[in-house]
Amino acid sequence: MSIEVVHSIAAVREKLAPRRGSVGLVPTMGALHRGHLRLIEEARARDRTVTASIFVNPIQFNQPEDYARYPRTLEGDVAVCESAGVDLVFAPPVEEMYPVPPATSVEVATLTEHLCGARRPGHFRGVATVVMKLFEIFQPDRAYFGEKDAQQLAVIERMVRDLNVPVEIIRVPTVREADGLAISSRNQLLSAEERRIAPLLFAALEAAAGAVAAGERDAAAIKRTAAALVEREPRIRVEYLELVDAAGLQPLALLDRPGLLAAAIWLGTTRLIDNVRLEPRQKSHKVVS
Ligand code: PAF
Repeated sequence: MSIEVVHSIAAVREKLAPRRGSVGLVPTMGALHRGHLRLIEEARARDRTVTASIFVNPIQFNQPEDYARYPRTLEGDVAVCESAGVDLVFAPPVEEMYPVPPATSVEVATLTEHLCGARRPGHFRGVATVVMKLFEIFQPDRAYFGEKDAQQLAVIERMVRDLNVPVEIIRVPTVREADGLAISSRNQLLSAEERRIAPLLFAALEAAAGAVAAGERDAAAIKRTAAALVEREPRIRVEYLELVDAAGLQPLALLDRPGLLAAAIWLGTTRLIDNVRLEPRQKSHKVVS
């Protein structure tokens, strides 16, 4: 079946009505890259009908300039979806999604207090609200999100749980370049020199994971290990580097439960985020002589 591209909510509902039971949704803002392709592959492996939304959601941007310059590459994105085996793309104009300024929104508390949530007020409200709308429009059985945006994923999982939304959320591991840099549409904004430096972010997170594997549990020491690497490079500005518990995203003083070491850095005018999950070291067995 060839791909169908629709622009109205009514058309999505009409096209999906006969296909209920195994519908997978990959929500995107377009500018598709290999990370999105992995989400589509995962959807194809599980769902009979694979759908994607391409919508640059104005209510999740903090700065109008950022929204205005977000890449819009619909034609190319549709071609990528088609070759990846997507059945239906929904690419609505803003007026279709927000015919009037929304008076209703979805706010996921506590999980949004730290990390990106603390620096981008209202961002996760915008994300949760549009994802909830997309779930209402598509009524998918499953929806696919990347672990690179760990806080977004946690927020959506919690929203679905709290509001009894009948959608299974599938977590998809971060796709990386050969040198470790997490794939992101922002990578293309890096200069050649910045691109050379960018893998230091993941290297720093990995160094911290190495310290944990060697037995370190103190959060300050874990963070210091990562910070030492990125701070060595004067062109990197660290926005945050935090260790939080993987479930509630609250700061940890001690890695005594699964944690998430997450960071946002600036390289010139480009903001990059990444994270690694840290498991507390297995208790060593006492050797009885
Ligand atoms: O991750 C994204 O691209 C967006 O935040 C999402 C989930 C499509 C909502 O606009």
